[in-house]
Amino acid sequence: MAHPVTVAPPARVTRDPASSRILTGDRPTGPLHLGHYFGTLANRVRLQQAGVELFVLVADYQVLTDQDLAGDLAGHVESQLADYLAAGIDPASATIFAHSAVPELNQLLLPFLSLVSVSELQRNPTVKDEIAASRQASVSALMFTYPVHQAADILFCRANLVPVGRDQLPHVELTRAIARRFNDRYAPVFPVPQALLSQAPLLLGTDGQKMSKSRGNAIALSAGPDETARLIRQAKTDSRRLITYEPATRPEVSNLVLLAALCQDRDPQQVAAGIGTGGAAALKRVVTESVNEFLRPIRARRAGYLADPGYLRRVLADGNARASDVAAQTLAEVRAAMRMSY
Ligand code: TRP
Repeated sequence: MAHPVTVAPPARVTRDPASSRILTGDRPTGPLHLGHYFGTLANRVRLQQAGVELFVLVADYQVLTDQDLAGDLAGHVESQLADYLAAGIDPASATIFAHSAVPELNQLLLPFLSLVSVSELQRNPTVKDEIAASRQASVSALMFTYPVHQAADILFCRANLVPVGRDQLPHVELTRAIARRFNDRYAPVFPVPQALLSQAPLLLGTDGQKMSKSRGNAIALSAGPDETARLIRQAKTDSRRLITYEPATRPEVSNLVLLAALCQDRDPQQVAAGIGTGGAAALKRVVTESVNEFLRPIRARRAGYLADPGYLRRVLADGNARASDVAAQTLAEVRAAMRMSY
């Protein structure tokens, strides 16, 4: 059996792109940021350009795990669509869709729930972190079951590759278990998918913690030049003049070097050497310029899409229709395998 985690696409993807189908997605909680971009968006676009079929999910039902983030859901969905298209996802070949519009996907949750144990769900490390971070007095059942729903996201379209960030690995592991258990118990309906990690090292937020909108340490793709400059100005550094790339011992400085390097598509060591003894001020100047330069065309495309909400709605409606066809087909096979086609 192939190892579940791979940083470069497996050989078969390059040899025969049409043999792979990718499903991935994001919660519509606000604008996507550079952590999303370098962690997974860039990977998706690269694979799509290589000829792999892409399903991209606007995971609106997953937002319900955190009521604080729900806010203006319709606005978030629209902004996420604009981010996807601006980043280079091509809706002519990709299926971009929302959970809530694909009932047959959601129906897979019921048989899948029967294939996992409560203690398995309680052990999920990502869910545990999210519960700790949410500071809620009580935890909804959806918090524990959303990883099973995520398995339905992946398996409804029989995706075999899932480009994700590291924090999503427990969910892909669970998806693999559910696929195997279903196939063993009923009939071989599902491929066992592989997670695909980005080759880029993990990009942290401007405070050295995980980059996330709720921590206020994220640079959104939609951030203007001034906001970008402000965020980078506030970033944590240290007092040594010589700038180096040493992620283990100088995490905050190295993270800024990495950010500039990713934006310039250069090696972080070279970027650090270029700044030399310029200190934190020179480092921040380079990072701000690199990020703004990198984001300029993305911001321009994003603004263009947002100026045409009718187009964005059509992209989503088309994707929803395509995803629903695929989901109906899979559900029919699932029901047949379960001897429930009556
Ligand atoms: N949980 C993912 C996130 O928070 C979003 C997501 C939902 C997802 N369903 C998915 C990712 C299926 C990959 C595959 O970013």
